[in-house]
Amino acid sequence: MEGAALTRRGLLVGIGAAGGAGAMYAAMGALGLAPGDQDKAFVPPRASDFSLQGRAAGKVVILGAGVAGLTAAYELGKAGYDCTLLEARGKAGGRNLTLRGGDRLTELNGPAQQVTFGERAYFNAGPARIAPWMVTLDYCRELGIPIETFVNRNAHAYVHTSGQTVRSGAARADMYGYVAELLAKATDLGALDKKLTRDDRERLLEFLTRFGDLGPKLDYEGSSRRGYAELPGLDAGAPLGAPGTLSQVLAAGTGRAITNDFGYEQATPMFQPVGGMDAIVTGLVEAVGADRIRTGAQVTQITSLADGVEVTWRGGRMKADYCVATLPPHVLAKIPHNLGEPVTAALRTPVPVAAGKIGLEYGRRWWEIEDRIYGGITETDLDITHIWYPSHDYHAARGVVVGYYNTGAEAELYGALTPEDRRRRALTQGKKIHGEKYRADVLSAASIAWERQEHIQGGWVRWPVIDSSFTLLQRPSARVYFAGDWLTHLIAWQAGAMQSARSAVTQLHQRVLRSP
Ligand code: ALA
Repeated sequence: MEGAALTRRGLLVGIGAAGGAGAMYAAMGALGLAPGDQDKAFVPPRASDFSLQGRAAGKVVILGAGVAGLTAAYELGKAGYDCTLLEARGKAGGRNLTLRGGDRLTELNGPAQQVTFGERAYFNAGPARIAPWMVTLDYCRELGIPIETFVNRNAHAYVHTSGQTVRSGAARADMYGYVAELLAKATDLGALDKKLTRDDRERLLEFLTRFGDLGPKLDYEGSSRRGYAELPGLDAGAPLGAPGTLSQVLAAGTGRAITNDFGYEQATPMFQPVGGMDAIVTGLVEAVGADRIRTGAQVTQITSLADGVEVTWRGGRMKADYCVATLPPHVLAKIPHNLGEPVTAALRTPVPVAAGKIGLEYGRRWWEIEDRIYGGITETDLDITHIWYPSHDYHAARGVVVGYYNTGAEAELYGALTPEDRRRRALTQGKKIHGEKYRADVLSAASIAWERQEHIQGGWVRWPVIDSSFTLLQRPSARVYFAGDWLTHLIAWQAGAMQSARSAVTQLHQRVLRSP
């Protein structure tokens, strides 16, 4: 990943867009799915599909009860498949984990944490935002899960770079202002005449003047967009002083911070389920039937048979007609199987990426009262990377701020600390932005290092190269299907897990309908 920017491009380092997409679409074409249309094309299996065919829904063992596994079970269940989910962890959900008071969080090579948040307080330790175009929202609609706006961009949150803290609206105003000034002046001087007609020039200048809030001489001299030292009201107020020079603004390095949410998957408005992201897990578990999920079942062997699949776990064994394996690839790769060496090699290709977060519960919502920040994210060049303010329960007595959300080396750095040291470090860093109040009124904290979560061992994965491994695993190996966000171009999004599960379900169901 480039820096800590959570852009899709960053997440998918190495997935050559053209090669990868081409390969994926080729695989989808084999399924009769049009490129870019995979969701619209998805038809959930129905019991009635069997009536003309003389076939019956079979038995399916699903490895992992995370979002991919639950989605597969939910969709297969619509046609009456008899699904059993084997989940190694103590509860369903996988990385869709919401922590609340009373929860206990264990970690590999680290002490357990007892979560002591107050009533209503929660911390989405895994996924926490959903873009409007994602299939995740279709499942929320279908399952009756209420959603609310997640504030992904907030002009009143801060950008903290090179030791300076400014409101993100000010950082944008300055960067847009200076860029507009340069381009407007170049246009005005005729430097772009080869590219622009006279009309183009006028229109461009008109736009740039608005875009940068430029003066009559096309200078950027600051703007009320930067914010106010004294707010307007009965009188005009006093805008913040003049911006730094162009050189100072460039040196401050706000560029990454103000473009972080430009990606299609980060564009506002975004959404979250009311009351915690795990509402999606609860909804799916209810729809699937909790009795179909066997927790504490760590799979130890997958054996492909001529007429089915046998799966062994610590404490049991079962045979099914088909298997859908949704474990993270690096975990799956370690489980003995007889699917062949190319499958193991393919599963070993994606590399786990560390990711960490801390939830800080405060007894006072100072960010609303004093900083007037209602939801949104402060972007930093510190090792905490981001600070997220809650997009719900505004004006409540308490609230949970995400004090860091980092990946890669920064996540590993925090992950290696004890929970108490993570908290201390996060508070020291956040104080650089918010001052002493950041360390006052903290009631409790809970932190997660995903690479240290048993049976998961990573925030997500990255494919060093997109090659035949990716497409190999998008297809079944004998009667074993693979699914997970890691098999899509939506890595680290629940939508990826859901789309991948749908693809496995479609392939499996079509095969059953066609079977002799
Ligand atoms: N989907 C992850 C996020 O929103 C990467 O930060």
